[in-house]
Amino acid sequence: MESDSPHLRGSLIVFEGIDGTGKSTQMQMLASYLAARGVEVIADCEPTHGEWGMRVRRAAQQGERLSIEEEVDCLLQDRREHVRDVIEPALAAGRWVLLDRYYLSMMAYQGAAGVSVEQIREWNEEFAPIPDVAFWLDIPVEVALERMKARGGEQDAFEQEPFLAACAAIYSAMEMPWLHRIEADGDAHSTQQRIREVLCEELGI
Ligand code: TYD
Repeated sequence: MESDSPHLRGSLIVFEGIDGTGKSTQMQMLASYLAARGVEVIADCEPTHGEWGMRVRRAAQQGERLSIEEEVDCLLQDRREHVRDVIEPALAAGRWVLLDRYYLSMMAYQGAAGVSVEQIREWNEEFAPIPDVAFWLDIPVEVALERMKARGGEQDAFEQEPFLAACAAIYSAMEMPWLHRIEADGDAHSTQQRIREVLCEELGI
């Protein structure tokens, strides 16, 4: 019986924002909440830890960045594989996919590096499913930088103030109906509460 019944497609929920906004914490909190309600959840991130994603991560950690053409190339390749091998099969099997960054990151970050934001959106939407709900975790750039410093470690090539301010400006100009701005400079629990309220309104859970 189960094998014949088609699965209801899962939902794709995305967390976005500049570095230091707490995306991964919020995503993990939401994953536990949904799992406790019987939802089968996969929590994942982009860039992935596959070959293409790691090229971008390694360059950034070394304080460098690839040329913008190489960066766009690697990130699109990385996302193509991720959509094909992980995201689409999971959604088709009825699982919910939670992502720490997706193509809105590319619009913000490679957009801030000079590529046309609309062009980036088009390249991605040719193959990448549109999120059911995306959360833009919004905090002032100075607060994000303070959080990154408090976390310790070196700031990588993406995590510089003028660049992050340019990314934040692109996020704030985005106007997709499925994108929700969440104030994220308070404590993690109040941020999570706001996220759950939106999810309840949008997806009824
Ligand atoms: P990040 O989420 O900061 O990774 P982690 O916290 O695991 O180190 O992602 C690494 C960087 O990649 C981040 O600064 C933003 C950048 N990025 C892009 O420039 N374009 C993209 O399309 C994506 C997904 C990420």
